[in-house]
Amino acid sequence: MTRGLWVTLEGGDGSGKTTQATLLEEWLRERGRSVVRTREPGGTDVGVLIRDIVLHHRGDIAPRAEALLYAADRAHHVATLVRPALERGEVVIQDRYLDSSVAYQGAGRVLDGGEVRDLSLWGTEGALPDVTVLLDLDPAAARRRLDAADKPFDRLEAEKESFHQRVREAFLALAAAEPGRFLVVDASRPVAEIAAEIRERVESALA
Ligand code: TYD
Repeated sequence: MTRGLWVTLEGGDGSGKTTQATLLEEWLRERGRSVVRTREPGGTDVGVLIRDIVLHHRGDIAPRAEALLYAADRAHHVATLVRPALERGEVVIQDRYLDSSVAYQGAGRVLDGGEVRDLSLWGTEGALPDVTVLLDLDPAAARRRLDAADKPFDRLEAEKESFHQRVREAFLALAAAEPGRFLVVDASRPVAEIAAEIRERVESALA
């Protein structure tokens, strides 16, 4: 897009995106950058309502309806929050973007990944991040982290291991297809090491 820097974090549930987003935000603020921290689904007031449906609705949601709900959240989020922040020259740090839809609604729910991606690109008028960090972690290790956190599972976290394995493979395939945008990080490594690797990439993108 224009002027600012747009960084998204992707990965399975329990891969440590939130921790890394927080560390990156602190580092950027210390360096005097103006940062907008946001997430999908749920980065706007409309998004909060959509998030409640997609994560907490009891019972099934038809796969195409689910994909449309995430795309609707995304369209509103980019139009009203992300694009304006980038135009002001700010750094946007965002938990999840369209790669999550391709991985979860595409590979996970067996919709066509290319169609899912095109749907989001239509919704956002083609917006793609400058840097996408993929925190790659074996789903069994991620599950152990989620169990230890002792929070109730949402609709997607509650899916079985084969679902999360397909999601992981889809993320890795997306990263391989766009090596210029993606930084793939081994999320089983110590938090500080991962943070340093992300900082290095963001620093060179800012330069
Ligand atoms: P997440 O953002 O990881 O929230 P928390 O850390 O609070 O659990 O979870 C959001 C869930 O939504 C996650 O399981 C992945 C799913 N999701 C999709 O299926 N498709 C999407 O396009 C996005 C953005 C998220």
